[in-house]
Amino acid sequence: MDNKVSSVTKKIKSWKPNSWRFSPIKHVPEYPDQFALHLIEEKLHRYPPLVFAGETRKLKQQLAAAAQGKAFVLQGGPCAENFEEFTADIIRDLFRVILQMAIVLTFGVKVPVVKIGRIAGQFAKPRSSSHETKNGVSLLSYRGEIINGVEFTEASRMPDPERMEIAYFQSAGTLNLIRAFANGGYANLNEVHRWNLDFVKRLPLAKQYGLLSHRIDETLAFMKACGLTSQNTPQIHETDFYTSHEALLLPYEQALTRIDSTSGDWYDCSAHFLWIGDRTRQPDGAHVEFLRGVKNPIGIKVGPTAELNSLLELLKLLNPDNELGRISLISRMGSTKIKEYLPKIVQGVQKSGNIVTWLCDPMHGNTISTSNGIKTRSFDSILAEVIGFFDVMASVNAIPGGIHIEMTGTNVTECIGGAHHLKESDLGKRYQTFCDPRLNAEQSLEIAFLLADELTKRNFTTGS
Ligand code: PEP
Ligand code: CO
Repeated sequence: MDNKVSSVTKKIKSWKPNSWRFSPIKHVPEYPDQFALHLIEEKLHRYPPLVFAGETRKLKQQLAAAAQGKAFVLQGGPCAENFEEFTADIIRDLFRVILQMAIVLTFGVKVPVVKIGRIAGQFAKPRSSSHETKNGVSLLSYRGEIINGVEFTEASRMPDPERMEIAYFQSAGTLNLIRAFANGGYANLNEVHRWNLDFVKRLPLAKQYGLLSHRIDETLAFMKACGLTSQNTPQIHETDFYTSHEALLLPYEQALTRIDSTSGDWYDCSAHFLWIGDRTRQPDGAHVEFLRGVKNPIGIKVGPTAELNSLLELLKLLNPDNELGRISLISRMGSTKIKEYLPKIVQGVQKSGNIVTWLCDPMHGNTISTSNGIKTRSFDSILAEVIGFFDVMASVNAIPGGIHIEMTGTNVTECIGGAHHLKESDLGKRYQTFCDPRLNAEQSLEIAFLLADELTKRNFTTGS
């Protein structure tokens, strides 16, 4: 045991932004042109950071609050961003639905909702097979826009390092708009009715959302009478919105890793929050090696194959000082497995003394294929997994810190069910994802309403 601790300490001392290059690595492509890769890495290394260390520290504090039931996390966005979908409307629609969901959830949890987008950098995907075969032709699998193209041709599927630069600029543009929306008036609580205009009218929940907007208006009028207005209370007219992605493509992450001049610590400045996927969380693997040296808050996906001992080893490597807010464990078990697998993991972590923020990803354990081979997820199993998560947390006296979902702000038809009762036969209408199926705007808002009701029933408390 002592030997283990000292080897961990030794390892921690020897961390460098490039030390991951000496560990076994999975799900990162072999670039055929190493020289071109090197040039792009050098270029990105000279470019400005996308986020600032101070912002990530603020997020870490908010995640620490969520670990204690004093805040609730809403993390959401597409499975993977797409170069083609880089438009103001698509970014605004996702931002707006996340704000709407946050407002709805606030009524259920009665604590601040921490908003984190899977956006402005969520481009790289782990794939279950390295190759895809169609009509007898086998090509490299699509691994996300930052790596190769979706088109089924040899040229498009070849990993191309120049895509990293496009992803960087797209992330910068997306983040710029998000910052403008968050601080420039769009997120003003006095506008809640206006966010409603185009889509909630169609929604069976329009009445419920209207009533809620009305309650907010009344509260704001009361606050105004007490002297609290958007002029003197910034919380009314602006909001915090953070970015996140899976830290998968390590050459890109390393190139954006910088020393913060205030603290002297390393930060991965490609996003505020980075997570390690279920397929790359090996304690001796390159992804863990990279992330243990940066100070950002880190997520770890925890699927049904996760073993407690390996998880505890990860916590020791990634958070040796048990810093609150540093680690979020994102459970993604599947609605039928969560009650069997999660309690032991949560209890084991509790027993070890580690304090983490528990989040629930109800998407990745609930992917199914239709009879026509289309990937989908059912609204009911997504909801059932989150409710199962609340049940498990209550049964072991742990705090549910939030949810992590794959969603979009547009009206796609990728997940079945929900208030419009989308059926398998509807999936072809607007099935737009290149990757996993996402909840559409209406299904996302509906989940928020149902969860807010559930949390109200359970009397989600502030843990204080
Ligand atoms: C994801 O979040 O897109 C993902 C691939 O998840 P997981 O690692 O949990 O499968
Ligand atoms: Co996904």
